[in-house]
Amino acid sequence: MARIVRFHELGGPEVLRVEEYEPAAPGPGEVLVDVAAIGLNRAEASYRRGRYFEQPRVFPASLGYEAAGTVAAVGEGVTGIDPGAAVSVLPSFSMNDYAVYAERTIVPAASLVALPEGFDAAAGAAVWMPYLTAFGGLVDVAGLGAGDPVVITAASSSVGLAAIRVARQVGAVPVALTRTAAKVDAVRAAGAEHVVVTDEVGVTAGIEAAVGAARVVFDPVAGPGVADLAAATAPGGTLVIYGGLSGEPTPFPRSALANGLALRGFLLFEIMGDPARRARALDHITEHVRRGDYPAAIDRTFGLADIVAAHEYLESNRQIGKIVVTVP
Ligand SMILES: NC(=O)c1ccc[n+]([C@@H]2O[C@H](COP(=O)([O-])OP(=O)(O)OC[C@H]3O[C@@H](n4cnc5c(N)ncnc54)[C@H](OP(=O)(O)O)[C@@H]3O)[C@@H](O)[C@H]2O)c1
Repeated sequence: MARIVRFHELGGPEVLRVEEYEPAAPGPGEVLVDVAAIGLNRAEASYRRGRYFEQPRVFPASLGYEAAGTVAAVGEGVTGIDPGAAVSVLPSFSMNDYAVYAERTIVPAASLVALPEGFDAAAGAAVWMPYLTAFGGLVDVAGLGAGDPVVITAASSSVGLAAIRVARQVGAVPVALTRTAAKVDAVRAAGAEHVVVTDEVGVTAGIEAAVGAARVVFDPVAGPGVADLAAATAPGGTLVIYGGLSGEPTPFPRSALANGLALRGFLLFEIMGDPARRARALDHITEHVRRGDYPAAIDRTFGLADIVAAHEYLESNRQIGKIVVTVP
C-alpha cells in the first residue's frame, strides 16, 4: 500500500485527503516511480477548484504534474530507464490519466528525464516546469532575443523567476512586475534589469519609465490588466498569456488592433507534445542547469501529511518561487 492525495469534490485546500491505495503494475510504456519530492503548481489548485482548462473526469480525483524520485519498475517496451534510476517527472500528461501526489505512482516513461547531476529530489521536482514554461513561451513561441525588452508579470512566481533567468541568457532586457515592494529583492536577485512595483507606480507608467515599451510580454495573470500591458507593448509586439491568475475575462485591447499586437495563449504541453521542440527546450535547460545558470527556486517544503497546509500556502501569494512536498 502507498499513500496518495485525492479529493472527492471540488473546493478549497481542505478537500484534499491523504488516503491509502494499492498502486498497479506499470503497463506498456509506463514506469512505476517511488516519489521523493513533489513540485506544487498553481495549476493543481485551479484543477482542485474546477477552474483549470480541464475538469476532473471522476471522483475521487488525484493530482500533480511534477516530481522526482526513483524508478521502482518499468512496463513492457520501456527502454533506457532502469529500476533504481533517479529521475524527474516532467509535466506532460493529463491529471485525469496520471498524477504524482503520492508515495508511489505510475507515469508515462516519456515524462521522465534523469535527475540533474548534483540535484537532490526537491530541486529535481522544482526545476523543470518553470524553465520549460519560460523557455517555451519566451524563446520558442515569441522568439525572444538579444536586446528585446521583455515584461514579466507575476515575476516572483516560480515561472516568473525562471523567465527572468531565461531572458538574461538570451540577452534580452527583463522588466519584472510585482504588485508590492515585498518581493523586489528576490526578482532583482534573479536578474531583473528593471523592477516595477505596480501598486506604487502603475503598469503602463512603470514599463514606459523602464524601457519605453515591451517587445514581448509574458503574463500568467490575464483579465482586464491585459489592456494596460498591451498599451505598454511596441507595435508588432507579442503578449504571451500563459495563465489566468486574475480569474476574470480577458478583453481584446484596442491598442492590439491599432498596433498589430499578437495575443498568444501558451501551455507548455504545446512543446512537450512536439518531439523536436521538447528536445530543444530540454537541451537548453539541461545545459544551463549544468552550468549553474538555472537553479531551482524553492521557497518552502512541507511533508505529504501537510498537503492541506501546503495548498493553503500555495494560494496565499506569500511564496517566492516553488513550494515542494517531500515524501515520506
Ligand atoms: N502555461 C503553462 O504551461 C503554465 C505552466 C506553469 C504555470 N502556469 C501558470 O502560471 C501561473 C503562475 O504559476 P506559478 O506556480 O509559478 O505561481 P506561483 O509561484 O504560485 O506565484 C504566484 C504569484 O503570482 C502573483 N499573482 C497572483 N495572483 C495575481 C493576480 N491576480 N494579479 C497579479 N499577480 C498575481 C503573485 O506575485 P506578486 O504578489 O509578486 O504580484 C503571486 O505570488 C499560474 O497561473 C499557473 O497556472 C502555466
